[in-house]
Amino acid sequence: EEEPGLQTHPEEGRSGVHSYLIKTFYLSIIINQRSLPVFPYRQDLLAAIDQHQILVIEGETGSGKTTQIPQYLLEEGYTAGGMKIGCTQPRRVAAMSVSARVAQEMAVKLGNEVGYSIRFEDCTSERTVLKYMTDGMLLREFLTEPDLASYSVIIIDEAHERTLHTDILFGLIKDIARFRSNLKVLVASATLDTERFSSFFDDAPVFRIPGRRFPVDIYYTKAPEADYLEACVVSVLQIHVTQPPGDILVFLTGQEEIEACCELLQERCRRLGSKIAELIVLPIYANLPSDMQAKIFNPTPPGARKVVVATNIAETSLTIDGIIYVIDPGFCKQKSYNARTGMESLIVTPCSRASANQRAGRAGRVAAGKCFRLYTAWAFKHEMEETTVPEIQRTNLGNVVLLLKSLGINDLIHFDFMDPPPHETLVLALEQLYALGALNHLGELTKLGRRMAELPVDPMLSKMILASEQYKCSEEVLTIAAMLSVNNSIFYRPKDKVVHADNARMNFVVPGGDHMVLLNVYTQVRMGSGYSTQWCYENFIQFRSMKRARDVREQLEGLMDRIEVEVCSADGDNMKIRKVSTGYFYHTARLSKGGYKTVKHQQTVYVHPNSSLFEEQPRWLIYHELVFTTKEFMRQVIEIDSSWLLEVAPHYYKSKELEDSSSKKMPRKMGKAREELG
Ligand code: CDP
Ligand code: MG
Repeated sequence: EEEPGLQTHPEEGRSGVHSYLIKTFYLSIIINQRSLPVFPYRQDLLAAIDQHQILVIEGETGSGKTTQIPQYLLEEGYTAGGMKIGCTQPRRVAAMSVSARVAQEMAVKLGNEVGYSIRFEDCTSERTVLKYMTDGMLLREFLTEPDLASYSVIIIDEAHERTLHTDILFGLIKDIARFRSNLKVLVASATLDTERFSSFFDDAPVFRIPGRRFPVDIYYTKAPEADYLEACVVSVLQIHVTQPPGDILVFLTGQEEIEACCELLQERCRRLGSKIAELIVLPIYANLPSDMQAKIFNPTPPGARKVVVATNIAETSLTIDGIIYVIDPGFCKQKSYNARTGMESLIVTPCSRASANQRAGRAGRVAAGKCFRLYTAWAFKHEMEETTVPEIQRTNLGNVVLLLKSLGINDLIHFDFMDPPPHETLVLALEQLYALGALNHLGELTKLGRRMAELPVDPMLSKMILASEQYKCSEEVLTIAAMLSVNNSIFYRPKDKVVHADNARMNFVVPGGDHMVLLNVYTQVRMGSGYSTQWCYENFIQFRSMKRARDVREQLEGLMDRIEVEVCSADGDNMKIRKVSTGYFYHTARLSKGGYKTVKHQQTVYVHPNSSLFEEQPRWLIYHELVFTTKEFMRQVIEIDSSWLLEVAPHYYKSKELEDSSSKKMPRKMGKAREELG
């Protein structure tokens, strides 16, 4: 029978050698489990959970909170009667990798008893009793099960990260815990901020798991580094050549930087050849395919050294054994939000001192370690903030406000926030949802709003999907939505083949803008190759991203039924599709001297050099997102006709605002004066 149980491995009972190896493997897992700092506290912890409905659990990263505690609860019988244990993670990668690890420890197939659920990817089944998921997914579960009745325990893990979704979960779960006395709530956090969690949850007790931490020596640079990427590469090689064995962890801010760093390291190692010992270079970031992610956990072979180049995902969410050296340039990518202009941007900024200390801590888990900070001691003291500002205070709230409204929470001003969002941000979110037609003038959810909330995407994107029904182009819009959600990783542009890659990309260009190009890529990949790796490779398209886009599209299409949108095609009518993009009417920019100006706030922005419209510079654009790198760049832009805005958002734009400056009869100077007047 296909019932592996929790103790026996399905492979067991095969040939003698095989089963011997498997037994040794599980023996090593058991030894490892018992050596984790949380293990001696198993009984005390279970007793505390039994006694208190809400418990805050504090423990050093790597002490076993995420992988062990849910297993203890399972063994203790918390899943009796088919109840589930849910454990939230702020990051997709963590949800996937931790559930894989736990499935392995329990000798079950991932997706059976242990599973994970992240946006656009559900790896759970009827049998799943231990469910790891992103905090955003649990939030969405409130829509279908407002009291989370199928859960006996909810673990809000990595609480110290204070992501927007985690913060909203705090309020919602605190509320349902009041009438669901049989629900246990565990708030797990690294050694940060735990008193605040305790006081928010009506003085819930804090259970401390004493950590085992070896001393970490911290080194600063004497002067600021001009190029921290280069400084990282040099530091890694220096450690590799001069320091005793031990793996290295480097913190960078994002995929591009990480890839660049890995390439540089590999190139220099190639050049040094056999003069140095083997250096295994491994990247880790959110969009990295899961088989590549898993590699960072492989033990380093004797004689070699491993260097993991990571985003701040490795700060607390993932523990990599064997790290002795940490290289910290002191930066992270942070979202910020301007509630006056409604502009969101992702900017590389100095990380907080709390982050820097977490990073350093990664070096002292298995033995005494060293942390090389690529900034001065002065900068640490004077230029870094004490802690990171919670995401809720620096992000657009459109999405969660829509979700809360659909949960029937109307009075958002008095929602139980641990740290309330700025008032203007909340007001702006309400205004934007009103402008999108999701709320009526009383701030109540409309039928359209209810349908929008069903889609796990940004309100503007869901509006665009819903509007596609009216314009009869939902086929195409679903594809565009899926491609946009894959997030700038469609085109492959290796450093040594930039010219080839750019030429290949030019072949996909069609008129209208980047959305149309994305649609074209998707269609060609499907027609041209049936998703062949070879075809994608030759055309500098990332095969994996395309597969993901296809999955996302399938999921979105699956939801169309629920929100009663008929899926039909525009049959090549480019204008229909571009018209629907005006669902993003907030993101309108008009060509002006030296760049573009956003229509509502007159902020100067630029077309991203990778855009298909970079040369063309049409008069009116809608952009998908704004990123700040060297300038404020619009990413994924589409050309529109300003008159469409009056058609789609008459309540938002006055025709005066959309007058085409080129057709103005008056001299430019006067035009400018007029603009300034109002
Ligand atoms: O949650 P916390 O930081 O307290 O620790 P954990 O994630 O439960 O990690 C406990 C142990 O599991 C560590 O020794 C990790 O190295 C190991 N682990 C692993 O080997 N592979 C994973 N994918 C996750 C954890
Ligand atoms: Mg953890």
